[in-house]
Amino acid sequence: NSKILLSSSTLRLQRSGQFHSDPLDAVKDIPNGATILVGGFGLCGIPENLINSLLKTGVKSLTAVSNNAGVDDFGLGLLLRTKQIKRMISSYVGENVEFERQYLSGELEVELTPQGTLAERIRAGGAGVPAFFTATGYGTLIQEGGSPIKYKKDGTIAIASEPREVREFNGRHYIMEKSITGDFALVKAWKADKAGNVIFRYKSRNFNQPMCKAAKITIVEVEEIVDVGTFAAEDIHIPSIYVHRIVKGDSFEKRIEVRWLDSRTVNKGQAENPKPKKDSDIVRERIIRRAALEFEDGMYANLGIGIPMLASNFIKPDITVHLQSENGILGLGPYPTEEEVDPDLINAGKETVTVLPGAAYFSSDDSFAMIRGGHINLTMLGAMQVSKNGDLANWMIPGKMVKGMGGAMDLVASAGTKVVVTMEHSAKGGKHKILEKCNLPLTGKQCVDRIACKKNLSAL
Ligand SMILES: *[C@@H]1O[C@H](CO)[C@@H](O)[C@H](O)[C@H]1NC(C)=O
Repeated sequence: NSKILLSSSTLRLQRSGQFHSDPLDAVKDIPNGATILVGGFGLCGIPENLINSLLKTGVKSLTAVSNNAGVDDFGLGLLLRTKQIKRMISSYVGENVEFERQYLSGELEVELTPQGTLAERIRAGGAGVPAFFTATGYGTLIQEGGSPIKYKKDGTIAIASEPREVREFNGRHYIMEKSITGDFALVKAWKADKAGNVIFRYKSRNFNQPMCKAAKITIVEVEEIVDVGTFAAEDIHIPSIYVHRIVKGDSFEKRIEVRWLDSRTVNKGQAENPKPKKDSDIVRERIIRRAALEFEDGMYANLGIGIPMLASNFIKPDITVHLQSENGILGLGPYPTEEEVDPDLINAGKETVTVLPGAAYFSSDDSFAMIRGGHINLTMLGAMQVSKNGDLANWMIPGKMVKGMGGAMDLVASAGTKVVVTMEHSAKGGKHKILEKCNLPLTGKQCVDRIACKKNLSAL
């Protein structure tokens, strides 16, 4: 029964899977109200042809599980614009203006979920594990419940999140999170062989890998279909058992969200910061240099967007620090030259990057296992507020601004990982950021070990 039957548009796999030549064919039976798992991180590794096909089928009331929602005019942002999505389950709203607007105005339901918890809920879904306990989110709105999923027009909460069960194991608190499964998974991979085995390119693996396993029907969009035997059996990322439909995309835009180049190799006009130094730049640089003193030889470190990432430029030349990026890289290198830019190689800030010799790529569920498992020595991130006892707030201002927690709640909840916050003493307008008690929703409780700010490194 190993024969592959060829017809004009459909090839049958040895198993039950099918090859489609038209992405519309592959998604046309997705019904209104379906739950879809959509792979990708930022715009990296998103199933762009499948998403565009959903615009054509006009399917409505979707629940979309996806780390982000694209940008206003690309990726899932397109389906937000046409109001085809009822609910998003995501970790990061970030810079998607329409996503934030629809949520805050009560047009869209959003279940914000810490990134590592999201990845593990999907992994568990595929593995037949109904729920698990994690330290991520303990002592925050995630555990307490009452976090807005849907707002009313008047800004009050129409649907609030449920509180989580808390259990203590070996003296630490953990919360119960339930697994996620989907009716369909929409996945972007690099290549499939004719038996239906799949591999991913560079960082496009991210959420695509766990999502393949967590849906009743997994639809994979690939750049190339190759003969059986082209990849060695030990190099296969997703075995064919998880793959139900394969489509070869005609073309891929692979848009880059943040085209960041090595500032030493581009002329000043193109560089990100061509302006002369202002006072705020000088303060910033001082914080960056302070933060860099936290690096020790042999450390594995995860650096947040902005100041923490810039601190890596000031690592002392005689020490080695291995940089981890939560979208699944260990061994992050400098920003790329124009020639090195690759849309499949970005960091957690969606900036184009390079990797060093000896680097490794892995999926988002693996990345957060690394983080949650305490294998990372240092995490450095920004904050809106830090309290005297080390509580941290950096993900939302209720009713006003939602960025989402991304991976921050997971990073700061990891036992054994030192948490260094980089920030100024006060925000624009002079409001103090180091407080008796935070009044914004927390990212983590008693989690901050140090603050690197303008004047000194204050040990908490
Ligand atoms: C990093 O953490 C590991 C444990 O995961 C530990 O063995 C190692 O000594 C730490 N390295 C540094 C430089 O702190």
